Amino acid sequence: MNKCTNAGNFDMPEPSAVVHFDIFTLFPSMFAGPLSESIVKRAQEAGLLSVALHNIRKYTTDRHHICDEPPYGGGGGMVMKPDPIIRAVETVMTQPPGWTLPEEKAYGDLPPWSADRPTPLPDAMPMVLLTPQGRRLTQDVVAELSAYRRIGLVCGRYEGVDERVRTQLATDEISIGDYVLSGGELAAMVLVDAVTRWIPGALGHAMGAHRDSHSPGLDGLLEGPQYTRPLVFRGETVPEVLLSGHHAQVAAWRRQQALLRTLRRRPEFLSNLTLTDADYAFLKQHGWRAERTQEG
Ligand code: 6GU
Repeated sequence: MNKCTNAGNFDMPEPSAVVHFDIFTLFPSMFAGPLSESIVKRAQEAGLLSVALHNIRKYTTDRHHICDEPPYGGGGGMVMKPDPIIRAVETVMTQPPGWTLPEEKAYGDLPPWSADRPTPLPDAMPMVLLTPQGRRLTQDVVAELSAYRRIGLVCGRYEGVDERVRTQLATDEISIGDYVLSGGELAAMVLVDAVTRWIPGALGHAMGAHRDSHSPGLDGLLEGPQYTRPLVFRGETVPEVLLSGHHAQVAAWRRQQALLRTLRRRPEFLSNLTLTDADYAFLKQHGWRAERTQEG
């Protein structure tokens, strides 16, 4: 992350990026790789994205730093306790973006906090609980989240989080798909990556996220095949039209390939699209039977 250049004022957090994430987790070191490579790294360097990792365990005050306990009623597994999570979130989210707990304050010497009364958090600051029970992350949800300046992500472990984290803290619950992960951390990384791609200027190339909008998740087409050198690889040659230099022919071919790939793999996308007469004709030639509404 960039150092603040305001000489002499070392306590000032760095200027807030376009989107700032506060991530609450028991495993902050899991994030090191994904945050320090490629587009997400460049977005941070460019001041478009900033991420602060907060170790929930540092917000415990007991001798053993306990963050989970067996569930009431039995049944096995462990459940994350509400108080360290809620203390961490209320402490951090009432500070400016970029703030993290000073190392010497961890565990014993935490800032004042009330266990009895909620600390009001600013509006327009989503607190997202990552859980397989959440609403599914789609490109629409990514676009929705990218409109916020600051987003809190709480990574639950899959066995569970005390229900009062939901009722008292979470404003949103998100899942990245219908399978079970060991915790919300990988899902949080997926969310940060996808939101970063949606921040204007975060992608190097001129098309930006517009290209992505024509890919799965939105109502776009799947991208067709792409080729680069060599011209022939193990007997398989690049389609001739791509060598022709006819931009219109190349564009028409790409459109058809995208239609075909979408028809074969994700036909359900086609019904949400604005298609041209030529598109319809092409799709019909290839066996598409659009589900017509009534009159068909
Ligand atoms: Cl957000 N968390 C966990 N534990 N598993 C998941 C998930 C989240 N999304 C899909 N599977």
